Amino acid sequence: MTAQSGAAFGRFGLRGGSNMKAIEFCGVSFRYDEESPFAIHKLDFSVEEGEFVAVLGHNGSGKSTLARLSNGLLEADEGEIRVFGTQIARKNLYDVRKNVGVVFQNPDNQTVATIVEDDVAFGAENLGLAREEIGERIRFALQAVGMQQYRTAAVARLSGGQKQRVAIAGVLALKPRAVILDEATAMLDPRGRREIVEVVSRLNREEKITVIMITHFMEEALLADRAVVMNRGEIVMQGAPADIFERQEELITYNLAMPRIGYICNRLRAGGLPVANTLDSETLAEEIARCVS
Ligand SMILES: Nc1ncnc2c1ncn2[C@@H]1O[C@H](COP(=O)(O)OP(=O)(O)O)[C@@H](O)[C@H]1O
Ligand SMILES: [Mg+2]
Repeated sequence: MTAQSGAAFGRFGLRGGSNMKAIEFCGVSFRYDEESPFAIHKLDFSVEEGEFVAVLGHNGSGKSTLARLSNGLLEADEGEIRVFGTQIARKNLYDVRKNVGVVFQNPDNQTVATIVEDDVAFGAENLGLAREEIGERIRFALQAVGMQQYRTAAVARLSGGQKQRVAIAGVLALKPRAVILDEATAMLDPRGRREIVEVVSRLNREEKITVIMITHFMEEALLADRAVVMNRGEIVMQGAPADIFERQEELITYNLAMPRIGYICNRLRAGGLPVANTLDSETLAEEIARCVS
């Protein structure tokens, strides 16, 4: 993030305050129909403003339902959901969706226009803003995701990672205070995944945008302040990502694989090389060097 785009965010008032909960679930339950089990069950969960939370869990554990409930795409059957202090209700859905942007899995389902700048402008145009304001928002959003040089490019010619960055820019143009990425990297190659993870972790760090990153790539959770593991609509583990990843046996019961570096570490230790537990490749390399010297 350049100083310039940081200033742009500041001007738009995106910097978050403190001590405010971005999202708060109190005893929330939801099911898609009466015959089905609860997709979310008596869930208590909250995210502080400015926090970066990774949500992990195998298929069907309730992650997407959590995302849809958080921005009012679904309505809870039981319990309360508050977004930046306001309880979600039909009358304030518009404000909720402006404050909590969601980026979904498939980049091709999220683009609506042929040219990048029109695509980014789409949501902001629906807010009924002045042309100048929209132009300004397109500029800052594209800069925030490092796509400013593609402003007039054809969306169809972009890589998957670039399309997802455009989708994120479209969400940023709404000036949300929180962004939820629902497996937004799932369809990308490793490079595209890295691009997205870097962009969102920078937006969190430098612009104080609250980030909820739903992912099944354990490595991506490492950059988060906190990792939450879901299973059958409930939170079954939470804590610092590195601490969560040490609890391998538990993770395996929830069908979650461990990050590669953690796995290699464990293999080395099992094989008799006493490396310290780490999830960082450089640290592991140093550990190996230390053990054999
Ligand atoms: N549109 C839907 N209609 C009916 N059931 C659904 C729908 N979407 C999800 N479910 C069910 O709700 C549960 C949670 O799903 P979901 O939130 O999509 O999990 P995840 O995102 O972790 O894979 C699963 O049992 C799933 O089958
Ligand atoms: Mg999902």
